[in-house]
Amino acid sequence: MRGYQLVAAPSGVFRADEAQVSRGTLDTDHTGHSRTGFVNLENTPGSYAEWTVPAAAASTASLDLRYANGTATARPMDISVNGTRIAAGRAFPPTANWDTWATATLPVSLKAGANTVRFTSTTADGGPNLDRITVR
Ligand code: GCU
Repeated sequence: MRGYQLVAAPSGVFRADEAQVSRGTLDTDHTGHSRTGFVNLENTPGSYAEWTVPAAAASTASLDLRYANGTATARPMDISVNGTRIAAGRAFPPTANWDTWATATLPVSLKAGANTVRFTSTTADGGPNLDRITVR
């Protein structure tokens, strides 16, 4: 577990190996992930990856999710912050192959303290592969 520095504006990079994963694995069989691997969510609805994002004060931030989708079909996921769904079935489009990564950005409202940000597969295809989130 790494230490977190609390800053007024939440910021930081949270990698695949820091995610809490339900029904998925940390895999390394595709290139281009940024550290020890990427999250491969099970191809089933409900598989998820969740990161804990600390913030010193309530604030709005931009969240970048780096993902890969090597299929020809978008992979939707629900996104929730602190248990509240902020995006329903957001589509993560194909990225050409599993070694090619793209970034999707969304605004998030954070509270002071520890925030949970969860990405949940909504179809039998599961989510895309997940490399990291960046909060800025
Ligand atoms: C392939 C690929 C995995 C990916 C999976 C999927 O097996 O190697 O990295 O997660 O497809 O369809 O989700």
